[in-house]
Amino acid sequence: MSIEFEDQNEERIISTSPRLEDEMEGSLRPRHLAEFIGQDKVKDNLRVFIEAARSRQEALDHVLLYGPPGLGKTTLASIIANEMGVNIRITSGPAIEKPGDLAALLTSLNTGDILFVDEIHRLNRSAEEVLYPAMEDFALDIILGKGPSARSIRLDLKPFTLIGATTRAGQLTAPMRDRFGVIMRLELYTPKELMTIVTRSAEILNVPIDPEGAFEIAKRSRGTPRIANRMLRRVRDFAQVRSDGRITSAVADQALAALDVDRLGLDNLDRRMLQTIITTYGGGPVGIETLAATIGEDAVTIEDVYEPYLLQIGFLSRTQRGRCVTQAAYDHLQIPYQGQQTFDL
Ligand SMILES: Nc1ncnc2c1ncn2[C@@H]1O[C@H](COP(=O)(O)OP(=O)(O)O)[C@@H](O)[C@H]1O
Ligand SMILES: [Mg+2]
Repeated sequence: MSIEFEDQNEERIISTSPRLEDEMEGSLRPRHLAEFIGQDKVKDNLRVFIEAARSRQEALDHVLLYGPPGLGKTTLASIIANEMGVNIRITSGPAIEKPGDLAALLTSLNTGDILFVDEIHRLNRSAEEVLYPAMEDFALDIILGKGPSARSIRLDLKPFTLIGATTRAGQLTAPMRDRFGVIMRLELYTPKELMTIVTRSAEILNVPIDPEGAFEIAKRSRGTPRIANRMLRRVRDFAQVRSDGRITSAVADQALAALDVDRLGLDNLDRRMLQTIITTYGGGPVGIETLAATIGEDAVTIEDVYEPYLLQIGFLSRTQRGRCVTQAAYDHLQIPYQGQQTFDL
């Protein structure tokens, strides 16, 4: 089921998983903190930590970045490396199969370098255990031999910085979380911030765009820069083929409507999910697992990908007994609201 879902997610313009075309447009990725739009609190703190570490000529403390996909975790990791003037090695939790893979990466790092571990919540236990002494003491504990004659030797590593990224901080083990000196949560972006991102991207891609056109795209991109940039490319195609190449609000509106993305950035899947809660569960509350089974999606994906935005725009609320659809969502879907028939006991 999850594979089926991933295919489905790939086809959605509002999909948050990176695709090939996103990777090819690496030019859109900000390289310095000053170019990174929004997330002011995160940037302010990072500036201080980076400056302090630089002036002490030390490696930056280990950093954990968490938040929904497409908000800039990978981008921030490379920016930190840039600002620190160090190299970055990139890997991910699922890519590390054996503890030895991780040991090899760690020993390849130079003083101050960054090891970026994406999806760090998916690291397996034995790899995690290699990381503990590495993060704490810059050391690798290597076991030689087997059984009663086995002994362990300690290998020194150069001081380095681990940057972990995850969509689910709650799934990290406590000992793992405790070893990060800096833990930062990325928030969904406001339409205004996304408008700035779209305008900046359009400039890099050399696409003429009106402020109203940029705002139209921004409003529909679910608080997520990755979606904003993807929509910009699709709208650019429409502007070229159906118009004179300039992205106006009318062109953006037409293009996004043709892609079934509504004025708030909801697509068919979001609407189907909300409608299901309304028609099948009287608007809720419905447990996440039940909901997942009913609409044939993966519970984790619902929580990571759909929910954050629906919660942010106030279409969904989370109660102890499950998810509820709010009146605002009924209104948006033009379904008469009869009041929630729920009593919290
Ligand atoms: N604050 C930002 N300012 C400008 N562009 C951004 C920002 N955050 C993300 N982006 C853009 O969105 C894309 C997705 O960001 P990425 O770092 O890959 O997200 P994540 O790793 O959190 O999934 C990047 O390629 C970048 O172009
Ligand atoms: Mg990433």
